Amino acid sequence: MTTVGIIGLGYVGLPLAVAFAQEGCDVVAVDLDERKVEAIEAGDSYIEDVSSAQLREVSERIHATSRYARLAKADAVLICVPTPLTRNREPDLGPLIDSTRALADVLQAGQLVVLESTTYPGTTRERVAPLLEASGLTAGRDFHLAFSPERVDPGRTDFTLRNTPKVIGGLTQACAERAEGIYGLVCDQLVRVSSPEAAELSKLLENIFRSVNIALVNELAMLTDRMGIDIWEVVEAASTKPYGFMRFEPGPGMGGHCLPVDPFYLSWRAREFDMTTEFIELAGKVNQQMPYHCVAKVERVLNDAGLPVKGARIAVLGVSYKPGVGDIRESPSLKIVALLRALGAELRYHDPHVAALPEFDLESQPLEQALADADLTLIVTAHPSVDHRAIAERGGLVVDLRGVTRGTEAENVIRL
Ligand SMILES: NC(=O)c1ccc[n+]([C@@H]2O[C@H](COP(=O)([O-])OP(=O)(O)OC[C@H]3O[C@@H](n4cnc5c(N)ncnc54)[C@H](O)[C@@H]3O)[C@@H](O)[C@H]2O)c1
Repeated sequence: MTTVGIIGLGYVGLPLAVAFAQEGCDVVAVDLDERKVEAIEAGDSYIEDVSSAQLREVSERIHATSRYARLAKADAVLICVPTPLTRNREPDLGPLIDSTRALADVLQAGQLVVLESTTYPGTTRERVAPLLEASGLTAGRDFHLAFSPERVDPGRTDFTLRNTPKVIGGLTQACAERAEGIYGLVCDQLVRVSSPEAAELSKLLENIFRSVNIALVNELAMLTDRMGIDIWEVVEAASTKPYGFMRFEPGPGMGGHCLPVDPFYLSWRAREFDMTTEFIELAGKVNQQMPYHCVAKVERVLNDAGLPVKGARIAVLGVSYKPGVGDIRESPSLKIVALLRALGAELRYHDPHVAALPEFDLESQPLEQALADADLTLIVTAHPSVDHRAIAERGGLVVDLRGVTRGTEAENVIRL
């Protein structure tokens, strides 16, 4: 029987652990966070994409632990720890280095190690390999090493681990073959590239592509606001072109653990090669401006209604960074809430996925309670369980930053 070790049981690692267990593998699941280890052992999932029922069905085969020693018996170990930025927006490889060092202490000849965390090209070869080689084993000879980026899109059900092609870049051909053998258990289509660097950069290209295109449509949204043109109508019309155009939606800014963070891994690395990655910087700058633009819009709408922001009761709908999930990392909603609060607005929010925002001392209100006597309703993240059109049709000022009230042509509804 194949034993798969997984380090880091977050949005990426836990679904992966469950997928391998569903295929009959034994899974050693390592996380430093004891609460996660206990939750998995108790069969309680904390990730939307994995239900507790699914976890319980395979819990006999998943052995969650905070001890690396148990990884010694794994055939393959997949590293899925966070790769955040430091305060100065430089790559913070701390979790990756710590976990790789701990793995080196228990590494066995013949094992396969795969890095899944998003990072700059060169990380697997230049950072991970030497740390693992402190074990006395040589990468590519005594153990296999590869990079295979995770493409999970939390909350998505049409594309899953199974039917999303998986890119693999091995340190050697044999490394890639070993990695294909493991991932072939849970993925239908594998895409082999010639090196870990090509695999690392392919993931960054995917994220930078999104970031740049979102910035482009956001910049146009700021322009159309001044020109008095409806950006949603424009995007809709352009999207009818059957070739050469890909639809991206404007919005209040970029959130999540990936898009606002990952591109800067490449801009940092590019500096070593005397390059400035201007598209990345520009996209970051434009997207960062969006919450400010949205708050300015709210100010204008209130002003037109003869209301100052100070003291205005504003109901924020949706604070997570995307619909259907509770992840608030880098969520533009938080910036908008902070900016509105600094202006003296009286805020309440409704989000079925986020029970509380302790840093703002706010708790999610039931929808009706949040809307009751609000001077303005601000749709920031459009969760599918909320009927935004119905809210817009009730009257009362509504500012819609997601275009979900399209079709409601009432004066009280103002869209981005
Ligand atoms: N979330 C996504 O949608 C997504 C998609 C594709 C790629 N990625 C990438 O995958 C990686 C993981 O992202 P995530 O969203 O799953 O992060 P996460 O924060 O949800 O989970 C990471 C887990 O690693 C654990 N961890 C940290 N240091 C550790 C250590 N030294 N030893 C053991 N465990 C440790 C944390 O406790 C946490 O549970 C990142 O590089 C991210 O960029 C994420």
